[in-house]
Amino acid sequence: KRTLIVDCDTGIDDALALLYLLGDPDVELSAVTTVFGNTDADTAALNTLRVLELAGRSDIPVAVGARSNWCGEAHLAPYVHGSDGLGNTNLPAPTTTPSPEPAAELIVRLARENPGSTHLLAIGPLTNLATALLLEPELPQLVAHVTVMGGAVRHPGNATPAAEANIHNDPEAARMVLRAGWPVTLVPLDATMCEVLTEQHQRRLAECGSPATAFTSSILDQYFDFYERDIFGERRAACHDPLAAAIAAGDVEPVLAPVVATDVDTGDGPGRGATIADVRGQYQNFPAQEGANVRVVLETDRTFSDLLVDRLCGAPER
Ligand code: BDR
Ligand code: CA
Repeated sequence: KRTLIVDCDTGIDDALALLYLLGDPDVELSAVTTVFGNTDADTAALNTLRVLELAGRSDIPVAVGARSNWCGEAHLAPYVHGSDGLGNTNLPAPTTTPSPEPAAELIVRLARENPGSTHLLAIGPLTNLATALLLEPELPQLVAHVTVMGGAVRHPGNATPAAEANIHNDPEAARMVLRAGWPVTLVPLDATMCEVLTEQHQRRLAECGSPATAFTSSILDQYFDFYERDIFGERRAACHDPLAAAIAAGDVEPVLAPVVATDVDTGDGPGRGATIADVRGQYQNFPAQEGANVRVVLETDRTFSDLLVDRLCGAPER
């Protein structure tokens, strides 16, 4: 089994990613840590506890992390995820509470306790991971792999013309995580914007009849409202975090994913938060770059949303 710690800003697609992983027989979720982003870090923790409760997994510890980036800023996204972060579904408060251990300390402790076996999946701003790197400079040697949903390489950004939201929320932290020398898989908008959930998927989830699938179907209403209004002009939405989760779990093999040097623009101009991956080799079959540690997922086969719905509905996999 692959042991994963998920760092997230739960969030509609974060909730889908967590439920996807909880249904994965080959994944052991050892903890979930939260960060500001789609909503504030404390609400993200409550939302995570709600999701774990729905899946009957309240035994998994949830720790609250950074409430802002290191510049003290926290741009939240209620217009995408609703004022409660879960599509204005206003679920009752969870019956469990977050752990008293701060997120970054929990990440470091679990990595030290299980050297070489923990996979980190970051699907929010990277402040907690960067803080963990400051707390434990040996973290890159203690962790097996890091998967990050974030960035936009050849695709436009979504927070600004150049930057994707998770990276834009804390470019300094993102740069630190990408430069730490550990093996990273980056799952940018280039891939996630092409894996799309439709109203047909939403109907299937509603018809599956479990409390968890009814919940996923209901949170998609707000997500589709946003995507219809501001992005696609139709009721369908991108599978950002679930796709990164499936890649971290080893369930989805990317179609195109060169290992290249990747950095983040931390200047204060219009490029702030842009991810710059060195894909210049694309016409020469991506020659290996010395010291490159970031596998950048540029393309997947665009069938993931069916797998996601199958998993959430508990259907046997294709
Ligand atoms: C990312 O930002 C958040 O809104 C989503 O949950 C996802 O992690 C997409 O840019
Ligand atoms: Ca997220």
